Amino acid sequence: MGTRCDADGRRGLAGPGGPELPSMARVCDHLLGGTAHFELDREFAADLAPVLPNLPEHIRVLHAFLGRAVRHLAERGIDQFLDLGTGLPTVGDVHGTAQRVDPDARVAYVDADPFTVRLAEAQLAGARGVTVTRADLCEPASVLTAPGVTGLLDFTRPVAVLAMAALPFITDDDELSGVVAAYRDACSVGSALVVSHLSAVTATPEQVDRFGDVAARIGCRPAWRSADAFRGVFNGYDLAEPGLVQTARWRPELGVEGTGPGAQDVDTVSAVGLLVSRPVPTELALVR
Ligand SMILES: C[S@@+](CC[C@H](N)C(=O)[O-])C[C@H]1O[C@@H](n2cnc3c(N)ncnc32)[C@H](O)[C@@H]1O
Repeated sequence: MGTRCDADGRRGLAGPGGPELPSMARVCDHLLGGTAHFELDREFAADLAPVLPNLPEHIRVLHAFLGRAVRHLAERGIDQFLDLGTGLPTVGDVHGTAQRVDPDARVAYVDADPFTVRLAEAQLAGARGVTVTRADLCEPASVLTAPGVTGLLDFTRPVAVLAMAALPFITDDDELSGVVAAYRDACSVGSALVVSHLSAVTATPEQVDRFGDVAARIGCRPAWRSADAFRGVFNGYDLAEPGLVQTARWRPELGVEGTGPGAQDVDTVSAVGLLVSRPVPTELALVR
């Protein structure tokens, strides 16, 4: 299955964008109790409900993890964040969480979907320390040279790269590894990588297929990956405790609210990687 999944050649978008079709970003906003979505997004969420009945809990668990991870990194002194595949930064936004720890924290939000970017810009009007950039995360060189990114973030200092529910839209495993490695190589020691990825925890193969069939109606079929299949994106990083785990199991003691009794069952895995040293270049590793 290739990464490209929409008619006009844009990569891996969670739907082709625009107000005339539902989008995953707005479905997430709806399920989180936000206001940046339309009737057709609520209807699409209702269509997904019989396939993955715990989808609302899934999204809440994901964002509770995001809150814990961002706060944890901000408390360790990271004050720069690059959020890839942002969607709509509404409920539990990254800058709000980080700036509660450090009011000077900065967040560059990046999404490829023009309509999502317009909505995000409207929501973030007046927010300080943030930019919104329309760019394809699969083209790291474009993201890393975009004015909204270079003008806000200093890559000679630690940056936390976030990819929450965005990497399943890169369906080719080799491309996924290369893309994530390019962001790692742009970061200095002390940086971090925060990722949540769709992964069958309780979902059956039939549910995975049916989820893909419904998602295909808006132009995409996200990849599900087991934790083992996905672990390689953290190459070069040390995994913060407790490692790559079911999302609700990542440091629940840090206590960001938003998870209920079914939290352990949601179909995502998550981890925080810490860049504690520069990875040995491949050619030197071969010489050893
Ligand atoms: C499921 S939503 C998740 C949004 C948000 N990160 C969250 O966790 O709620 C996925 C987002 O990734 C964006 N996206 C998908 N493929 C992308 C790409 N190649 N480059 C940038 N953004 C992308 C979509 O437009 C969408 O907003």
